[in-house]
Amino acid sequence: MSSTPIADAIYLQLRALEAEHRQMQETLKALRAAPGGADFATLEALQKENARLRAELARLSQHARYEEWFERHFGIRLPTPNTWPFTTFGPGTPWGDKAAFGLQDAEILFAEHLLEQLEAEGIPGAIVEFGTYYGHWLQVLDGILERRGWRRDIWGFDSFEGLPPPQEGLDPGVWQAGQYAAPYEEVQARLRTAERPWIRLVKGWFHESLRQEPAVSIREIAYARIDGDLYASCVECLAYLTPRLVKGAILVFDDWQFDPTIGEPRAFDEWRAANPGWEFEFLGMNLWAHLYLRVKARP
Ligand SMILES: C[S@@+](CC[C@H](N)C(=O)[O-])C[C@H]1O[C@@H](n2cnc3c(N)ncnc32)[C@H](O)[C@@H]1O
Repeated sequence: MSSTPIADAIYLQLRALEAEHRQMQETLKALRAAPGGADFATLEALQKENARLRAELARLSQHARYEEWFERHFGIRLPTPNTWPFTTFGPGTPWGDKAAFGLQDAEILFAEHLLEQLEAEGIPGAIVEFGTYYGHWLQVLDGILERRGWRRDIWGFDSFEGLPPPQEGLDPGVWQAGQYAAPYEEVQARLRTAERPWIRLVKGWFHESLRQEPAVSIREIAYARIDGDLYASCVECLAYLTPRLVKGAILVFDDWQFDPTIGEPRAFDEWRAANPGWEFEFLGMNLWAHLYLRVKARP
């Protein structure tokens, strides 16, 4: 992969800052040894600022590397999101919440638009979500289908015991084992699966449930949401999708990380390296790092 001018500039700045940092440490050492002492407070403040700048540059260069990696996969340079869109209405405030709900509504409309395209183009296959929790997204997707009179099987896979243990170095340190446990019967009741035989919830850990009936009998998938949060969960989902995700299908990653070495991006990167011939169209990414892709080509 060739680097870009932005990344090159950041790397050069980082190297220069490191040289400056080393020089300052030398100066500080010499001054400490000098007879009569020195203005240590100023020097130490300078050193602190130098360290802060260094951390900031490291962060920026990590972003630049991520952006290059993303462009390599999806042909688009997407800046790493790091800002709340309404800076005066922070998250958790009444107007901030309204902004967030507005964005959620926009995402639901977007999902409807994509489902409409699947119908218009006659793309066959089921809707599948990996990681359902209480079934919010399954409810949204089924609501669209019912309102529009479209028929597709809808599958939800979950342990219903919450997340398996995250792995250090492979997952961001924000989740814990058992998080998002939702009682199976309660989720069934919420989704009213008894009256909706086209919605099926399958209980079990992905590495087991996706390798046996009824999962193995699902032949074609037109819309897949990977929402299991963790790297290993995503590895299982992608392996399962490989023979089933049809050309033209929508693939959604709900927990995209802005770092290709962890979580869903890592699983995707490895899967793609091991499975040549897949091409994806980038459709969109929202504030919550939900990444929407369309399968352009598959082997
Ligand atoms: C963030 S929640 C999903 C939220 C859900 N999509 C919604 O619409 O609200 C993540 C879910 O993934 C499930 N999960 C993660 N890894 C799993 C695995 N390996 N096997 C089974 N379930 C898993 C957890 O049980 C949890 O319910």
